[in-house]
Amino acid sequence: MRNLNYKHWIALVSIVLVVAWFGYDAMQSKRDDALVRDLMKAQQQRSDSETELSPVSEPPADMVVNWISDENIWFVGKYQDGGGVEIPFRPGESRQQSEDVAPRHENPGFVGPAECQECHQEKYQSFLATGHYKTSRPVNESTIDGSFQPGTNTFQTSDPNVSFEMIHQGDEFLQRTHFFDWSFDVPMDIIMGSSKMAQTYLYWHKDGLYQLNVTHITDGNQWINSPGYIDGDAAYARPIPQRCLECHMTYFDFRGKINHYTPGSMILGVTCERCHGPAKEHVEFHRENRDAREAVGITNPADLERLTQMEVCGQCHGGSRHLKGDALSFRPGDHLDDHYQPPDDELDVKNSVHTSNQLTRLSQSECFLQSQMTCIDCHDPHHNERGNQKLFSSRCMACHKSESDCGFFPHEGVEFAENCVDCHMPRRSTEKLRLKSVEGDVFPPLRDHLIRIDHEATKVHLAK
Ligand code: HEC
Ligand code: HEC
Ligand code: HEC
Ligand code: HEC
Ligand code: HEC
Ligand code: HEC
Ligand code: HEC
Repeated sequence: MRNLNYKHWIALVSIVLVVAWFGYDAMQSKRDDALVRDLMKAQQQRSDSETELSPVSEPPADMVVNWISDENIWFVGKYQDGGGVEIPFRPGESRQQSEDVAPRHENPGFVGPAECQECHQEKYQSFLATGHYKTSRPVNESTIDGSFQPGTNTFQTSDPNVSFEMIHQGDEFLQRTHFFDWSFDVPMDIIMGSSKMAQTYLYWHKDGLYQLNVTHITDGNQWINSPGYIDGDAAYARPIPQRCLECHMTYFDFRGKINHYTPGSMILGVTCERCHGPAKEHVEFHRENRDAREAVGITNPADLERLTQMEVCGQCHGGSRHLKGDALSFRPGDHLDDHYQPPDDELDVKNSVHTSNQLTRLSQSECFLQSQMTCIDCHDPHHNERGNQKLFSSRCMACHKSESDCGFFPHEGVEFAENCVDCHMPRRSTEKLRLKSVEGDVFPPLRDHLIRIDHEATKVHLAK
């Protein structure tokens, strides 16, 4: 017993210490440290007084079942083995469907993108193809990646006794964990990630939101452990905190506890109102005043002062900042410092998904320092422009005018006009973002926003 607890404790501490989900854990470290301490304490108390163990029908009798009351987590393990299962619902029972509960807070006026369609048809249509729109979505046949076909729908950990099966049943998608001779199902309710690099999955247990153990990565079309998860464990109790949703959703009603939300309140995707402000008043006014041509009750970021405009993007592209007060309180026109702690400089230089601070990196570029450049000189948030190097190069040419502005021009075999960015804003993968896959480690490359002369990148580009 003591031995198992010790191992489990090591596993928990490791979960926190491993450079986790795209560096996200670093942001969470303070809370997680406290969590681990509490878990340890709870574990200790549990093993000291066996009587507190709740009786369970399943799993098999040779497994150890611990209820960690502080965190509402069940732990299931086996002697002589390091692996374990963590779930927020009772082993042997299913998770409970989310309940239809009344919101805790009044919605400050977020109405969702569908409400814009009737008057901004074109913008609405093109926006549906963007990474922002797709960054959180309900799970269904057309949104979910990866194989659910027997033969290619499994993820085997290095422990032969622990594996996962991805199952499509009716309109339900679920992950089935096989842990020795015990198995259980967890549904996939919400997709996080537009599939550029990955999709990870969330599910509801009552009004709690948790991450599933298995993630899909686009590179190689593979099922893998969610980054930071321990190989050989089945962890289905990782809570999804507000800050995580704040960067990947438009609106949610927080119920006051770490990962508890009102299910019906959510507006998925990073949509119009995160950049334009809550639009209820705008929509109501223009529905009642069909002839009005002057916009009422809405912010156009183009009208904001330069740095203030960029802070709109900085809510989510400004590095790993902790919240100062309530999530979702930032409005276009506000300053980041009033809502978030300063970013962690050490994390910022790591250039991984959750730390590649475009706001800071761009601000250090000569282009930025010697012009009035903002994010929207290169990005139109209403269109999917992903991977369109030619288009991005044309945006450079708005200021640089001619290919011959490039000190490297002319050069045999280089299509200058078609691709400025691979030489001056190279995609760099980082050792800090390591995803373990069946075929080895994968490092999703990211675009560095420090625009510069880069001889290394030029060499790589010429070699292609
Ligand atoms: C009933 C019609 C109507 C609806 C619905 C509507 N708008 Fe508008 N919107 C307008 C009109 C009219 C204007 C002013 C003319 C223009 O700029 O197109 C406008 C302008 C805007 C502007 C530019 C403001 C400026 O100062 O330049 C933004 C941004 C905007 N709307 C966002 C939204 C968003 C986001 C939604 C959905 C949540 C939405 N609108 C829904 C009618 C509507
Ligand atoms: C500070 C804002 C922020 C927070 C907090 C945050 N994310 Fe992200 N996340 C981003 C941004 C921005 C990207 C895309 C970066 C890029 O494209 O370079 C991203 C990318 C991702 C991706 C990959 C998307 C893809 O299409 O490949 C996943 C999955 C993801 N985040 C999940 C999460 C989860 C789960 C959490 C909470 C534990 C979280 N994120 C917290 C901003 C954030
Ligand atoms: C990621 C931030 C972001 C999102 C999401 C976003 N916008 Fe915008 N929007 C901007 C910025 C920045 C501008 C000003 C620059 C420009 O015109 O592109 C703008 C300008 C506008 C304008 C006024 C300019 C024009 O061309 O008429 C309208 C209207 C508008 N957006 C509507 C929408 C609607 C509707 C959605 C959702 C379907 C949406 N926006 C989503 C950032 C965003
Ligand atoms: C509320 C959070 C949020 C805000 C505000 C926001 N973004 Fe994003 N952005 C994200 C997330 C999350 C992703 C990752 C989407 C994914 O791949 O899942 C992303 C992705 C992107 C991408 C990559 C798109 C792709 O498909 O490759 C660009 C470019 C981008 N954002 C630019 C901007 C700009 C410019 C602004 C300001 C006008 C802005 N964002 C505002 C959260 C945000
Ligand atoms: C808003 C205007 C603007 C845009 C857009 C712009 N630049 Fe610049 N850039 C400048 C200015 C101004 C300078 C400094 C003067 C110079 O070297 O021409 C500069 C400098 C540079 C330098 C020299 C940097 C150094 O450290 O010496 C490079 C390289 C560069 N730009 C590449 C690009 C590329 C690639 C793009 C497109 C991805 C781009 N720029 C987009 C304005 C811009
Ligand atoms: C094959 C790689 C490559 C491509 C493609 C490329 N550049 Fe360059 N660029 C370089 C190198 C290398 C230098 C430094 C040349 C030197 O030694 O002065 C440079 C220098 C520059 C400078 C600084 C010039 C100076 O004299 O300070 C600018 C501005 C620039 N490039 C802009 C661009 C733009 C705009 C494009 C796209 C039209 C582009 N580059 C395409 C490799 C490239
Ligand atoms: C000089 C042009 C330029 C400016 C200005 C610029 N970006 Fe980018 N950005 C790019 C290019 C080019 C890419 C690569 C796009 C692609 O390949 O799909 C990119 C990609 C991104 C991505 C996806 C990251 C990735 O690794 O693929 C995000 C997020 C982003 N930009 C956010 C921003 C934000 C926020 C700002 C303002 C602080 C900004 N960008 C300003 C040129 C620019």
